[in-house]
Amino acid sequence: MRYLITGGSGFIGSNFIHYLFEKYHDVHVTNLDKLTYAGNPANLKKFEANPQYKFVKGDIADAKLVDELMKDVDFVVNFAAETHVDRSITGPSEFIQTNVVGLHTLLDAATQHKKRLHHISTDEVFGDLPLGTGQKFTEHSTYFPSSPYSASKAAGDHLLHAYSRTYGLDATITNCSNNYGPYQFPEKLIPKTIVNALRDKPVPVYAQGRNVRDWIHVKDHCKAIDMVLQTGRTGETYLVGGNCEKANLEVVRQILNLLGKPETLIQLVPDRPGHDLRYAIDSSKIERELAFKRDYEFEKGLAETVEWYKQNQEWWQPLVDRLEKGL
Ligand SMILES: NC(=O)c1ccc[n+]([C@@H]2O[C@H](COP(=O)([O-])OP(=O)(O)OC[C@H]3O[C@@H](n4cnc5c(N)ncnc54)[C@H](O)[C@@H]3O)[C@@H](O)[C@H]2O)c1
Repeated sequence: MRYLITGGSGFIGSNFIHYLFEKYHDVHVTNLDKLTYAGNPANLKKFEANPQYKFVKGDIADAKLVDELMKDVDFVVNFAAETHVDRSITGPSEFIQTNVVGLHTLLDAATQHKKRLHHISTDEVFGDLPLGTGQKFTEHSTYFPSSPYSASKAAGDHLLHAYSRTYGLDATITNCSNNYGPYQFPEKLIPKTIVNALRDKPVPVYAQGRNVRDWIHVKDHCKAIDMVLQTGRTGETYLVGGNCEKANLEVVRQILNLLGKPETLIQLVPDRPGHDLRYAIDSSKIERELAFKRDYEFEKGLAETVEWYKQNQEWWQPLVDRLEKGL
């Protein structure tokens, strides 16, 4: 099978490429990535000399390039996006450009070449849920995004559904909850906490740390994407969650505990505008229709992740240096 993976040098995309090469022998992957600050060739170092892997530096909004790359593939899987909510608040334009205009370019090319496309989206398109309730997002939840990031992802989802209905594009979407695991850029909560704690630096937590996220290991997310690609129904959305709701403060405490670091490192900082309170996903559709099951339980997955960052300082140190220089 031949895959065009877009945004494959980021966190989830690179884990997906590892997943494909570990699971299948006959895969050929072309990775189209713009290498923004979040894209990191080191995530895929192990495949550099692999003849079944090809890297192309470029933008998903480049219609000519996308058209060329799409000719010879069976599957297109789009991970390319601007993804950091805080950055979308200070500079939304790039989010609209990649997450809406860029996706639109992929949809046009996939329609023209009659390709099977899968798009990676987020539960953040649904806004948030009240704290302390059992409510969960389902495939029927109303779109109600809070941040420029989630609004741009919501716009992308709507465009994809429109292409599927209007032009018959063979496409699916997964809306997933918060991922954790190796190769996550150290501006996101879990890796940032780990690398700050390892260096005995303060660990910032928004407000009182009561906001709740539903955590899933990135490898379980990759497994779900693969299942939807192989056996999902075209035109459908599948929600993928970890069934693991945790308040941010609880996650930070667990990490400090795993590292043997004091809770005095925690620094409560003023909340960000529009901060979603709680996410929780009902994954019963993908479990029922595609027999999806998670392999990771949070405590084990988190301990492995902490260990990975401990063992891979040469991976994260240059990224932290860049972040601290404001690049
Ligand atoms: N990380 C999560 O917890 C999470 C949860 C649910 C959904 N998602 C979605 O999964 C996808 C991947 O997220 P991630 O965490 O791996 O993101 P990431 O920020 O780690 O990686 C994004 C990648 O896209 C590339 N990119 C950005 N703009 C591009 C462009 N115009 N053309 C080509 N490449 C471009 C970057 O260089 C980077 O390699 C995103 O669509 C995100 O919305 C993420």
